[in-house]
Amino acid sequence: MNKLRLGVLGLGEGRSIISAALNSELWELACICDLNEALCKERAAEFRLDRWTMRMDEMLADPSIDAIGIYTPDPLHATHVRQCLDAGKHVICTKPLIDNLRDARSLLDAQKKANKHVFVGQSSRFFASMIRQRADYEEGKHGDLFSVEAEYNADNRWFLQKSWARAGGLKWLYGGLSHPVDLVRWYFPDITEVMGYGMLTENGRALGLQHDDSMHFILRTTDGKIARVSGCYSAPPQPHMRDSHMTCVLRGEKGASQADYYDLRYSTHFKGEGCVQYDMEHQAPYYFRFGGRGHHAGEYQNYIEYFARCVAEGPPCTPKPDLAEGIVTVAVMTAMERSLETKQPVTVKSVLEENQLSSLLGA
Ligand SMILES: NC(=O)c1ccc[n+]([C@@H]2O[C@H](COP(=O)([O-])OP(=O)(O)OC[C@H]3O[C@@H](n4cnc5c(N)ncnc54)[C@H](O)[C@@H]3O)[C@@H](O)[C@H]2O)c1
Repeated sequence: MNKLRLGVLGLGEGRSIISAALNSELWELACICDLNEALCKERAAEFRLDRWTMRMDEMLADPSIDAIGIYTPDPLHATHVRQCLDAGKHVICTKPLIDNLRDARSLLDAQKKANKHVFVGQSSRFFASMIRQRADYEEGKHGDLFSVEAEYNADNRWFLQKSWARAGGLKWLYGGLSHPVDLVRWYFPDITEVMGYGMLTENGRALGLQHDDSMHFILRTTDGKIARVSGCYSAPPQPHMRDSHMTCVLRGEKGASQADYYDLRYSTHFKGEGCVQYDMEHQAPYYFRFGGRGHHAGEYQNYIEYFARCVAEGPPCTPKPDLAEGIVTVAVMTAMERSLETKQPVTVKSVLEENQLSSLLGA
């Protein structure tokens, strides 16, 4: 299997994919790029790299680079995905893929023309406990699922140190809830209607945040299954011994499971098996490589290797979530945003139709 060559755009959280590529047998790190020269030098020194640039064009013009990993501020993702596709590169774009649907149609056209993969880096799908939960689901251990509850709570006030976040570029509905919404759509792709309430807390307002930082939603599928998504971002969360900052609970006719981010816990109660708690903490050094638990190198290594295996296999293998699936997830979040404004249930279909995206129903 030929190694794929990677360029990395944006070197804040981009640090995690640098580590992932350097530790992978399936990838070669070709070049890193950031507008911030000091950060380029810092990353080059940290990982002993001899190639970095402040010009994205330079990476795009290099025919030896197969794929670009995009880790720039949320509002720039649409432009950067477009530029990479126009240059004939595969794209790995961090979440949120985009934070509105304005450019969705043109991105689909650009991808069709380029005939390259666009993979959305929904890191939580690639975390140890979520992987194990998915395997149990695919084995049928839960029976028919009727409920998915996913949440991501964290004291993310530190994020407001970033100028783009303070300037209104950060919407927690997209930047934070894209994790639990994606987990819900992984199990229930056909979310049809959403309803929720949210608020901007005084803690968030004091830091200049302009959008809601605390939100609870309920969602339902075409055939009446139910889901719940929550996120609170401007206050200390509950202790991780009692809950986990990122959690996904599946309930089915044959039992339930809970995958937790902190402490790498996974718990199940399946018919005939009793209650079991799995401790995967021994995997922590693979997942958390830079101190603290705020980086995602292990998840990124899992997803870039999955991406590389799909590329090697060729069609019809497509790394998921792909562009179409990612855009529908953004449509679900857009419907959620509208529900916050109108305090009414909103259908995903209406949002897709308004944005000339009806062809994506079912993606
Ligand atoms: N779990 C996850 O997958 C996860 C975790 C954290 C962050 N993220 C995502 O990663 C993205 C970046 O977040 P961050 O915390 O690193 O932000 P950041 O502001 O620390 O880093 C973004 C970097 O992009 C650079 N940049 C901006 N425009 C550029 C351009 N045109 N060319 C080259 N470099 C450019 C900036 O100089 C900056 O260094 C966000 O979309 C965020 O949501 C994902």
